[in-house]
Amino acid sequence: MDRIKVTEVFEGISMPGHLHTQESLNAATNFQFQDTDVLLVTFPKSGTTWMQQILSLIFNKEDLQSIQNTPTWTRVPWVEHISFSDYLPQMEASKPRLLTTHFPARLLIHNLKNTKARVVYLARNPKDVLVSYYHFHKLAKFLPDFSSFEDFFDQFLEGKVNFGSWFNHIKDWLGVQQELNFFLITYEDLSQDPRQAIQNLSTFLGQQLEPKELENILHYCSFSFMSQNDLLNYSLIPPVIFDHSVGKFLRKGVAGNWKEYFSPEQNARFNNVYQAEMGDLALQFPWSLD
Ligand code: A3P
Repeated sequence: MDRIKVTEVFEGISMPGHLHTQESLNAATNFQFQDTDVLLVTFPKSGTTWMQQILSLIFNKEDLQSIQNTPTWTRVPWVEHISFSDYLPQMEASKPRLLTTHFPARLLIHNLKNTKARVVYLARNPKDVLVSYYHFHKLAKFLPDFSSFEDFFDQFLEGKVNFGSWFNHIKDWLGVQQELNFFLITYEDLSQDPRQAIQNLSTFLGQQLEPKELENILHYCSFSFMSQNDLLNYSLIPPVIFDHSVGKFLRKGVAGNWKEYFSPEQNARFNNVYQAEMGDLALQFPWSLD
């Protein structure tokens, strides 16, 4: 597979060259959003695939069969990926266009702020993001190899992993939320009370859900359903890209898995950085750092 170990650096952010080129990244910053668009924004490993599935279930609630034969990454594609231009024509036929990005706000805000596009920011406890990202580096052959968890831990805290600092990403987007049609939701909301979280999300999206429709969505976005479905669990990705022998894309699917990985010293260090970076935010997140 081409460019498997290439890293693209764009506007100071590293990204895998397997999925991005300077051309695709430039095209994303020039992408013209429409009022009807829905843009899912995540830092990697925050539950992107889960939310891609939920969004397409909500917007296809009357005919769930219509989405069962296509993978999430074609239904809710990343605007910055090389393949985006292939998916765009078929998306134009069905409004709203469901889109995804890992970009920081500063690369998209100029084209988003004068639209009514709905922006869904999905956040996750950064400790769980770190652990999930560590495992993903073992699975994904287009990401750098890290010699140890300690090594990855340091690079993540310093914002030196692909897509940079988790802290900058979330602060960047929360900093422009007043300029956008913006909805914040967390992985922890979805884990603790998926019914309520999906209802709140649907209200933001202007979608009324009948009780039966909500039941179906809960079923088709559950970890048990998604992890067994080859179009959702990334198992069809060729071994040259994902080394399926070392783990699964849908790995644990829980909140709080970091506790099995962080040493007391790492936990204290992480909490200090978290406090320094996030302490000024008035917002309370539903995750626990203890
Ligand atoms: P873990 O590695 O902690 O299991 P992304 O799609 O942004 O790459 O995020 C992947 C993470 O979301 C993985 O976390 C994966 O298991 C989790 N995930 C995906 N679908 C899920 C679901 N239906 N329920 C809970 N977690 C899910």
